Amino acid sequence: MNTTDNWLVHDHRKYETALREVELAAGAGRWEEAERLFREFVEDFKLHMRIEDEVLYPMFRETVADSREDIDSLVEDHDDIVRMLHDLAYVLRHRESEHFEASLEPLYRMMLDHDAYEEEVFSRFGDSTLLARRDEAMARLNRMQPSDNRREWSF
Ligand SMILES: [Fe+2]
Ligand SMILES: [Fe+2]
Repeated sequence: MNTTDNWLVHDHRKYETALREVELAAGAGRWEEAERLFREFVEDFKLHMRIEDEVLYPMFRETVADSREDIDSLVEDHDDIVRMLHDLAYVLRHRESEHFEASLEPLYRMMLDHDAYEEEVFSRFGDSTLLARRDEAMARLNRMQPSDNRREWSF
């Protein structure tokens, strides 16, 4: 396991736990707390996705010739996750307890699948690329601009 994996795995477990905490709060009828936990989680998670979308995935595309299919799938996962997050945000905002589980469970499963897949892809490609180009990865991270964010968020 390398440095990239550690960062990735740490963040993934953190987000999976955060989503479960949102579920616990909403399930107990503590909607304000659920919304607050959700907002905190999403703020952090948006940055995680941007780092992948804007720095790490492009670096894999540039350096690993046969990475295209995997990276395309991971980007599609992100699109699905963003859609599901919007659904869940709506349900939380409107306190729709009857739709809550139906919104959260597919998102949670999707995140688990995506995270496992991404960890597998990163460890398959990671050693030869990101670690070797760590300085460049850091420079690109530092150059990220809010205006580069291609994803639309309504919350
Ligand atoms: Fe991801
Ligand atoms: Fe990730």
